[in-house]
Amino acid sequence: MSAPGSGPRRAPLVVGNWKMNKTNPEAVALVRELLPALLPTPPCEVVLCPPITALTEVSLLLAGTPVRLGAQNLHWEAGGAFTGEVSGAMLRSAGCAFAIVGHSERRHLFGETDETVARKAGAALAAGLAVVVCVGETLAERESGATEAVVDRQLRAAVLELPGDALARTVVAYEPVWAIGTGRTATPAQAQAVHAHLRGRLAERFGAPGSGVRILYGGSVTAENAGSLLAEADVDGALVGGASLAAAGFAAIVRAAGVRGAR
Ligand code: PGA
Repeated sequence: MSAPGSGPRRAPLVVGNWKMNKTNPEAVALVRELLPALLPTPPCEVVLCPPITALTEVSLLLAGTPVRLGAQNLHWEAGGAFTGEVSGAMLRSAGCAFAIVGHSERRHLFGETDETVARKAGAALAAGLAVVVCVGETLAERESGATEAVVDRQLRAAVLELPGDALARTVVAYEPVWAIGTGRTATPAQAQAVHAHLRGRLAERFGAPGSGVRILYGGSVTAENAGSLLAEADVDGALVGGASLAAAGFAAIVRAAGVRGAR
């Protein structure tokens, strides 16, 4: 098990997933309020993932800052007759550096499978994006003792098959489904146990570079609980939903991750 300071150093990362929230004027207002709290030098790496409609406007506001832009989803094909979908190249041209794939809402509400998530991860990387691959178990899976089997299956499909040279642009997010948007956060010990397990799998497959892959925790992260989660040895950052929609709370989470980075 890795302790802070052992193994490759992993720069903390906080990703704000706005989900289907914020019209363009609302998105602009949020970014205008957030940036002064983060600039000139954010306490850690920060990625904002607004809805697709706001990508270009937010990208203009982030230009020249170290805060990066991400998409919440993409299609695996490069182009063609796929009504309603967007490709990795389109996201890059809108200013994105990152894409989230396999979020549990995509898996559970929109029928995404391990196979489609894997295709999306490959497409994002091929388009030059960094990818945040989400894994996580449902409450029933946790209660039946299947947590490790579920995250293993999801990791195997979308991450363990990747070529080693994709690792530098790959981030894993552990998001227990029962903790997303429920106000019920995993305890730091619960998060650490799964993160350490995932890190072990990555190291088994890829060796030392696998240990360097950042593993974010997501699921009801708030300004109040971020510090204790981020104090765990294998929690390298946070994927934040609800709490990314208000500037002060999100900035506080970024500061908590900065404290981890300074350790
Ligand atoms: P939440 O969402 O912080 O609102 O629980 C996290 C996520 O779904 O990425």
